[in-house]
Amino acid sequence: MKLSDRITGLNAGGSDGWGVFYKAREMKAAGEAVLELTIGEHDIRTSDAILEAMYRSALGGHTGYAMVPGVNSLRDVVAERIAERTGVPTTRNNIMITPGGQSALFSTHCAVCDTGDTALFIAPYYATYPGTLRAAGAVPVCVDARAEDAFQPRAGEIAAVAPGAKSLLINSPNNPTGVVYSRATLEGIASVCMDNDLWLISDEVYDTQVWKGEHISPRALPGMAERTLVVGSMSKSHAMTGSRVGWIAGPEEVIARLIDLATTTTYGVPGFIQDAAEFALLQGPDLEEEVAAPFRRRRDIARAILAKQNTVGLIPADGAMYLMLDIRATGKSGEEFAEGLLAEERIATMPGESFGTAAAGHLRVAMTIDDDAFADALTRLVSYAERITP
Ligand SMILES: Cc1ncc(COP(=O)(O)O)c(C=O)c1O
Repeated sequence: MKLSDRITGLNAGGSDGWGVFYKAREMKAAGEAVLELTIGEHDIRTSDAILEAMYRSALGGHTGYAMVPGVNSLRDVVAERIAERTGVPTTRNNIMITPGGQSALFSTHCAVCDTGDTALFIAPYYATYPGTLRAAGAVPVCVDARAEDAFQPRAGEIAAVAPGAKSLLINSPNNPTGVVYSRATLEGIASVCMDNDLWLISDEVYDTQVWKGEHISPRALPGMAERTLVVGSMSKSHAMTGSRVGWIAGPEEVIARLIDLATTTTYGVPGFIQDAAEFALLQGPDLEEEVAAPFRRRRDIARAILAKQNTVGLIPADGAMYLMLDIRATGKSGEEFAEGLLAEERIATMPGESFGTAAAGHLRVAMTIDDDAFADALTRLVSYAERITP
């Protein structure tokens, strides 16, 4: 029986740098000691206090169907948090709770793109983006940000492909580059959206992980609240990756339609998960800073190690839990380097090519192992790079 083109075409095109990741997993399963700096999963687990809130809620009976748009009290807490941090008036009617940011990425594109519409996104990109846009029926078109611009996208290059497109997806703080978009970058992007009548989908799941500069939500820029859909998540900010809880913030009329979509797809998020999310958000910024602190520390460790050599470059690591290393001086592609590093040093990283050709010759390092092991891994990565450089 033939399956739909929609589902069989999800992973069409693009380089598959995931080989190194799967190889590392096999080596680990075979008992080898591999240092894994691959995926964006914290080395801590969801805190006991949050799990207790989840347990209390479930024991208290919150195990039936929950409200599809989200529990009102959680929608209120998310709305207040956004209004406080961005200055944009936001109420529960601007918020829908989703099963994580990934679901929000899919739903927002469903909301704004018809089948065959062009959906723009920026490379290097989070690995699921092209497939997510295809799943929503859109045709993904990628605009490359450049290493020489520290991966800040150029508004002029987005404008060149914007005519006729429906939406633009951006992500700051960025996975995989660790770059935080500057105000100038975001203002340029906002102008392109307004000039070309584009919806902006702003993936802000790393908004609590900013090491330098500030996180600016483009929804707060003049004229943008009515055309911006913000994707938020508890995964990275509260180490709740497995709880699958996030949100979409946007205009009321879009949220109303998104609730129709959720009614026919996810039917909402479990009530006890939502209660745990509400509890976590009510702990305020202190808990967010506690979860973010190890990455800030490791970023400083990496900067100190990398400052002592000039074979491996570092794209300014201003946010998120990743470093983007420039290994072009070694003459190797990201894939060749990552393969060699795994084979010789038992260190697993992600080749830049997994995130689009814009990151060719680069390597993404997730700062997700403890400080000493991380320092050891980076020191060995640098010596490997020096050893293989002609
Ligand atoms: C940029 C970006 N967006 C969205 C997600 C999805 O996060 P979740 O679905 O866990 O909220 C991730 C996860 O790694 C990500 O890196």
